[in-house]
Amino acid sequence: MALTLTVSLLLGAVALLVCAVLGRRRRRDGEPPLEQGWIPYLGLALEFTRDPQAFLLSCQQKNGDIFTVYLAGKYVTFILDPFLYQFVIQKNKQLDFQEFAMDLSSKVFGHPHLNDPKIPVSNEQLHKLYNYLQGKELNNLIESVMRNLNHRLNLEQLKSTEWKTDKLLDFCYRTMIEVSFASLYGTSPCDEQKQISELMQKFRKFDKMFPYLVAKIPIKLLWNTKRIREDLINYFISRELDGRLNMAFVIEKRKEFLEQHKYLQDHDIAAHHFALFWAAVGNTVPATFWAMYYLMKHPEAFTAVRDEIDHVLQSKDQGLAPVFNIRLSKEDLDSLINLGSAINETFRFCSASMNIRVSQEDFTLKFQEDRRIQLRKGDCVAIYPPLVHMDPEIYNHPEVYKFDRFMENGKEKTTFYKGDKKLRYYLMPFGSGSSMCPGRYFAINEIKIFITLILGIFDIEIVKEEKLIKQDINRAGLGILHPNSEVCFRYRLRQGRKI
Ligand code: HEM
Repeated sequence: MALTLTVSLLLGAVALLVCAVLGRRRRRDGEPPLEQGWIPYLGLALEFTRDPQAFLLSCQQKNGDIFTVYLAGKYVTFILDPFLYQFVIQKNKQLDFQEFAMDLSSKVFGHPHLNDPKIPVSNEQLHKLYNYLQGKELNNLIESVMRNLNHRLNLEQLKSTEWKTDKLLDFCYRTMIEVSFASLYGTSPCDEQKQISELMQKFRKFDKMFPYLVAKIPIKLLWNTKRIREDLINYFISRELDGRLNMAFVIEKRKEFLEQHKYLQDHDIAAHHFALFWAAVGNTVPATFWAMYYLMKHPEAFTAVRDEIDHVLQSKDQGLAPVFNIRLSKEDLDSLINLGSAINETFRFCSASMNIRVSQEDFTLKFQEDRRIQLRKGDCVAIYPPLVHMDPEIYNHPEVYKFDRFMENGKEKTTFYKGDKKLRYYLMPFGSGSSMCPGRYFAINEIKIFITLILGIFDIEIVKEEKLIKQDINRAGLGILHPNSEVCFRYRLRQGRKI
C-alpha cells in the first residue's frame, strides 16, 4: 500500500515536471532574452525574492539591459537602462497599470473591483479626486497635520527635561497613524485614545502580512489576518465616519462619491477607505523612521538640519513659541532645503517600489532609433528603481549616506548624470507616469513636519545599538523597506523651551 502511494506520488511529480518542461515558453523572434528556471509555476521567484538587486544585476551581466524572467506564473520583462524608462512610462495605453493595481488592491484590502460591469463605478473619476491632495487642499492638510502632531506630542506627557526612552519604529507608527487618521478622516468629538491605539496595533499586524497578501497567499492561510482586516475595515464604515470633525476635503469628496453608488455596500466603501488609509501610512511610517534614524546616526547631518529648523522657527517667531504650539506654512517647509535633501537621501536608500505595467496586446515596444522588443499580451514590464538609486555611475559612493547629496547652491539638486547624459529618472520612490503616487506631496510634507517638530522641541539620540540595523528585503518591490529590528532612542524637552 505504502509502496503504491510512493510510486503514485513519484509518477505525479514526474508528470508535473514533464508538463512544466513541455509548457516552457519558447522565445520568439524579437523577444528579449528569457530566463525561466526549472521550478514549475515559481520559475525564478525564489532567486528573485532572496536578493532582487543581486539577481537582476546577474541577469543584466548575462543578457544586457532588457530581459524577461518567469516569476510566479508571470513573464516579467525588466528594463534596466534608465534612459529607456520613458518609453515604458509613455505607453500607458498598451502598458496598463490601473487594471493590475485594482486587481491587487481588491485582493489585499477585500474591496470590490471597480470598473467591473457588475459594479460600474468609475475608477477614473475616483482618481480625479486625488487632485485634492495638492494645491490649496494640501495647505489645509499641512495645517491639520501641524495641529494634530502638536496635540499628539503634548500627550506624550513630556513636561520636564528628564530623558524618556522609547522604540523608534513603534514611536513613528503610534504618532503617524494617529496624526494621519485625524488629519485625513477627522477627529472624534469623544476621547478615542483607546480605539486609536487598537487601530495602530491591528494595522501593524495586518501590515506584517501585506507582502504575503501581495504574493497572493490566500488570506485564510494567514492566521487571523482576515478577522484583523475586517476589524480595520470597520473603523471606516459610515456610522463611524459620519460624526467626525474636520475631515479632509479629499476624503469627504471620496466618501460622497462612493456613497452615491447603490452598487456599493457600506462594507465595500469602508474597505476602499481602508485601502487609501493603508496607502497613506504604509510607506510614510517606515520612511519617517529611516529619515530620523539616519539623522541620529550622522551628527553632521543632524546639526545642519536642526540649525536650519531653528532658523526657520526663529524667523517665523516660533523659536520661543510655547512647545506643542508650533505652526509653519508650506512655504516655510519648502524652505527647509537641508531637510528636503536628507529625506531624498533616505528615499534613495530605502525605497524599493517596482513599477509594473501589463501588456494589453501583443505589440512592439519601440525605444530610440532601431531598438525595439516584442511583447505578448498579459506579460508584465517592470522598472526597478533601486538599481538606479545604487548606481555608482550616478551617485558617487552610493552605499554612503550623504544628507546633502540632493542640494546644490542652497537649492534642491535635480541634475544627475549617468556617463555624460543627464537623467530624467534618478530618484523614484513614488512610482512613475500613470502609477505616480498622488499623495507624494502630502507624504513629504508630513515627514518634514514630523522631523521639524521633533528636532525643534526635543533633544533626541539613539540609546544603544547592539546590532547594526539593516533593511528587511521582504518588501523589496513593494515600497519603503522596513528595518530588520527596532532602535532604542531617548528624548527630552530641549533646554530653554517654554511649555
Ligand atoms: C513616503 C510615503 C509614500 C510612498 C513612498 C508612496 C509610494 C507610492 C507608490 C510607489 C505608488 C505606486 C504604486 C505602484 O506603482 O504599484 C503609490 C500609489 C499610491 N499612493 Fe502613495 N506613497 C506614499 C505616501 C502616500 C500618501 C501619504 C498617500 C495619500 C494620502 C498615498 C496615496 C497613494 C494612492 C491612492 C496610490 C494609488 C494610486 C493609483 O491607484 O493610481 N501615498 N504610492
